[in-house]
Order: sequence, then C-alpha cells, then structure tokens
Amino acid sequence: MYDNLDELRAAALQCQNCGLCATRNNVVFGVGPADAKILLIGEGPGENEDKQGEPFVGRSGQLLDKMLEYAGLSRKKNIYIANMVKCRPPQNRDPAPEEIEACMGWLRNQTAILRPSIIICIGRIAAVSLIRKDFKVTKEHGQFIDKNGTLMMGTFHPAALLRNPVNKPAAMEDLLGAAKKARELGLPV
Ligand code: URA
Repeated sequence: MYDNLDELRAAALQCQNCGLCATRNNVVFGVGPADAKILLIGEGPGENEDKQGEPFVGRSGQLLDKMLEYAGLSRKKNIYIANMVKCRPPQNRDPAPEEIEACMGWLRNQTAILRPSIIICIGRIAAVSLIRKDFKVTKEHGQFIDKNGTLMMGTFHPAALLRNPVNKPAAMEDLLGAAKKARELGLPV
C-alpha cells in the first residue's frame, strides 16, 4: 500500500498484473485533485485515453465533462476520475473479470488515499463490481447506497448516453443529486 497518489501512480505505471500491459500505450491511472471527496469510476480506457494517459478524454469524456460542469463538478477542482481497469482492453471490449480483479488493488489504494465521501460508478461494469453484482443501472441509478460510510451511486455511462440520449436528463439528475449530497455533507463543491 502507498500513502500518496504520486508514489502509487509511479508504481502503477510499471504494472504487469494482467495481459492488458502487453497492448497498452499508457497506463491510465486517474486524474483530479488529491483532496477530492467525490470519486468517479468508469470502466476502462478507450483508444483516446490509451493514447493520452488520461481517463475520459474521448467523445464520451467530453459529454461527461459537460454534464459534470453543469453540476458544478470538475476534474480540475473537486472530483477525481479513475477507471476499474487502468489499461485499454483491445477493441474496447469489456474488461474480463480476471483483469478487473488484477487491477483492483490500484483502485483500492487510490480509494484508501482519497477517502472519498461519495463514489459515482459510471456504467454497469463499475456498478456491478463495486456496488452489487446484480445492480441494474436503468432501475437503480441515482440512489445512494451507504457502504461502510461511503455513499455509492451508479449512473449511466456517457457512451451509453451517446447511443441512447433519452437517458441524458436522468443521468444529469443523478450528477446534480451527487453535487447536492456533497453540499449537504459540507464538501467543497
Ligand atoms: N470509458 C470509460 O469507462 N473510461 C474512460 O476513461 C473512457 C471511456
């Protein structure tokens, strides 16, 4: 276990815990201020993220940033963004359970350092891995679930919103709900 994000990042950049290391260009560790109390967790890097080494910088990332901004949240100010797996699964396939398991130590250590009050799971893969294995985003999005003192929420993945914009207003309500909850908790948002 590392006790600061810089050392943890340096270690993660060397990771060979699973086969994804063979095809990656960059380890996509995470981005945001070290004192963020909201942690947003996606699935895994796509092509753009793999090229740039930063999460959510492609088309779905642009949508996510726009929605976050409307809720007063930003990776520059008050929210930390990471993924379940730090390396791109080839052809953007879902990460395999054993890849998620192999990568989980990095996310656990990030969470232990940040000690977030709110965790937002972006999309099914993060929600079923971190909230409950039968979590249904379409039914349970936006609900807060207290897990050992951390409020967990699942919401729609922006890639799914690009395919199916009908869920955009609901996803926006979820992010507004997270920001409202953060204010109620006295967090800096
Ligand atoms: N989708 C994700 O889940 N994460 C990213 O970083 C980019 C796209």
